[in-house]
Amino acid sequence: MNILVVGGGGREHAIIKKIKENKSVEQIFALPGNGGIALDATCVNIAATDTKAIVEFATQNNIDYAVVAPDDPLVLGCVDALGEKGIPCFGPNKAAAIIEGSKVFSKNLMKKYGIPTAEYEVFDDADKALKYLETAPIPTVIKADGLALGKGVIIAMTRDEARDAVISIMQDKQFGKSGDNIVIEEFLTGPEVSVLSFTDGHVVVPMISSMDHKRAGDNDTGLNTGGMGTVAPNPYYTDVIAEECMQKIFLPTIRAMKAEGRTFKGCLYFGLMLTPNGPKVIEYNCRFGDPETQVVLPLLESDLLTVMQAVTNETLAETEVKFSNKSACCVIMASKGYPSSYEKGFEITIPNDLLDSTYVAGATLKEGKLLTSGGRVLGVTSVENTLENAVKASYQKVENIMFDNRYYRNDIGAKALKALED
Ligand code: AMP
Ligand code: GLY
Repeated sequence: MNILVVGGGGREHAIIKKIKENKSVEQIFALPGNGGIALDATCVNIAATDTKAIVEFATQNNIDYAVVAPDDPLVLGCVDALGEKGIPCFGPNKAAAIIEGSKVFSKNLMKKYGIPTAEYEVFDDADKALKYLETAPIPTVIKADGLALGKGVIIAMTRDEARDAVISIMQDKQFGKSGDNIVIEEFLTGPEVSVLSFTDGHVVVPMISSMDHKRAGDNDTGLNTGGMGTVAPNPYYTDVIAEECMQKIFLPTIRAMKAEGRTFKGCLYFGLMLTPNGPKVIEYNCRFGDPETQVVLPLLESDLLTVMQAVTNETLAETEVKFSNKSACCVIMASKGYPSSYEKGFEITIPNDLLDSTYVAGATLKEGKLLTSGGRVLGVTSVENTLENAVKASYQKVENIMFDNRYYRNDIGAKALKALED
């Protein structure tokens, strides 16, 4: 089979490595991929958002199955466009991807179907939003409606911060049209859990839970990033909580999407907060999380391509999806300065025996050398019998991967290990 994967980050690298385990796979093309992915797939310089060029490539290269991984092509309708040419795909169509593409949509969906989430108000007018903020409870959370490169959520600890956020999103158009509407919502507290799930629209099969580390600095300090590391499973997510989430969140969500005529097929990501009043949805993503995928897929014992095809064919109920009971830890190695400004172009050296557990996010291949090209450069994953050993193993690997100005958090997994002790 010839497989096409749209995207070019660490998540896509993890998907590709897992798909490669299937013996019927002959060739994998990554659009655009990156310098590290090029060690595992044929990278083609087509942007993930260039739907027309992607469809053209797929039809000319006898693609048997496509995986659309990032949010923007999904929201743009890449799966619909490939489907029109008869190419089966993993990922939601445009109508279903709106669950991530519009926060106003997802909040209204949750309200309509009684799915637990933070209380909220929607505004399409800056003056009204500013007026509301004069008496709103503080802290509060301001969210741009549309996609904003993961930067559209502002936790305002003061009224001034809240006002500044509204002005920059709605008046200064920091995120363009994504900020035409905003959600202002209740500030929730509690441990966060990421649950990725496979769903074919009929059944939902949660994957192993995970924990992201979003802030740039140790002990959750510094700016928000795309994610500096992950562990799986997430120790806060007990079997009792998992069952509660299944009944109150996961099943109601896929049923709600179906009832709205927006049947969701693909990976539905539930960003949850375990609040004192029970689990609540912080956000939905219409795709695999990054870097959650880099710990979740290494623990998947079933064949990924088979499971993905079952999602497409709506036969997930009859398909085994089995996870190992081991633990995984992924430490992200970034360029110093990320998520603000950073230098790039430094040579990366990865010992050969670590290539299998390295997922490259931001690197180019130039004259046989791998050079840093992004803020998040790569992730290193270890799977061990205990979380403690997985964390140790990943940090040992990190010590052996070199590039100038490398930066990583030193405490990935620390919170999870502490939760296991308590
Ligand atoms: P997102 O960009 O949607 O992933 O949100 C970024 C982060 O903001 C989440 O991971 C949470 O830590 C935080 N967050 C979002 N909504 C809320 C909320 N209502 N209360 C507290 N924290 C929130
Ligand atoms: N790790 C969070 C995300 O993928 O959005």
